[in-house]
Amino acid sequence: MSTSTAPTGKPAKAASPAKRERVFSGIAPSGTPTLGNYIGAIRHWAAEQDIYDNIFCVVDLHAITVPQDPAELRFNTRQLYALLIAAGLDPARSSIFVQSHMHEHTELTWVLDCITPTGWLNRMTQFKVKAGEDRELASAGLYTYPVLMAADILLYQTDGVPVGEDQKQHVELARDVANSFNNRFGETFVEPRPIIREVGARIMSLDDPSKKMSKSGSDNSYIALIDEPAAIRKKIARATTDSERTIVFDENRPAIFNLLTIYQALTGQSQQAIEAEFAGKGYKEFKAALADIVVATLEPVQQRYKALMDDPASLDALMAEGAAKVRPLAQATLRTVLEKVGLR
Ligand code: TYM
Repeated sequence: MSTSTAPTGKPAKAASPAKRERVFSGIAPSGTPTLGNYIGAIRHWAAEQDIYDNIFCVVDLHAITVPQDPAELRFNTRQLYALLIAAGLDPARSSIFVQSHMHEHTELTWVLDCITPTGWLNRMTQFKVKAGEDRELASAGLYTYPVLMAADILLYQTDGVPVGEDQKQHVELARDVANSFNNRFGETFVEPRPIIREVGARIMSLDDPSKKMSKSGSDNSYIALIDEPAAIRKKIARATTDSERTIVFDENRPAIFNLLTIYQALTGQSQQAIEAEFAGKGYKEFKAALADIVVATLEPVQQRYKALMDDPASLDALMAEGAAKVRPLAQATLRTVLEKVGLR
């Protein structure tokens, strides 16, 4: 397991349960999750459940900041919830819930909206990318999305937020919002820090290594967690490389660097060991080995996922239990906030 990078945060040392730091993180059901989500976030959430007090959330309210087909959104939310458990999140050790099942998120968002300067939101790079050319047509929800994300985090008095590199700016905004509220109304929120790993915090697209791997890219640009082995092998075989021959970690060769990073993240081997393993070998051989490790990682996840999706009643029960576990904490924070602001 890789360690997090300074200065954005370090995993906590194992501590007695009473003293565990709390982590909160979320993932949006806006399409099928990718290997980028898995490497940058989900695998760490699963691996560190005994270190932290863990809360994970399928953020369906975030998904609707861009248009969603209602039936697809409903399906994607369940699919993602099942995939998180299939990928190793354990309902006995973590609270796992669906954002819209907890009305406290939207209530706190409004209060935080009213103390967040628009200048802070204007600096958010993800809004600029997601809004595209015609910014005037982007929804107000997409613009204020980082405030909803701040509410998600602050509602649970979160110490650390394990995320990929692309969410760092949003977590820092959440910390600024917490700090601003605390200064104005007195100590109320824990000020959270992002936890970002050295290896795999930004997995790039397979067909264009200048772009982040994302479900909104072309079909060959990402590996979905539910892709069949044959599709995975085909996508990796087609992945962009370069005209050089050596298989070495060189950031100036972003395509092969990205494939090597995926290999490193999934095997846990050092860069030196991987370079030694493939010294004198060609891209074809390396890609076949990479496909093997991706398939071997995802196959057991897919089997557990299918079993969970075949039992909708149990999935419903797990979702209800997850929300019930986090509700008292969310209610307590919201009550304090409403009192401090003068709404109670
Ligand atoms: P989302 O759904 O886009 O991504 C979920 C997590 O996966 C990480 N990730 C990646 N990591 C490495 N390489 C990639 N190519 C890659 N693509 C995605 C993301 O960094 C993220 O950690 N706004 C958030 C969801 C959210 C949230 C929160 C997160 C809502 N509220 C509160 C933390 C705390 C999002 O859209 O993530």
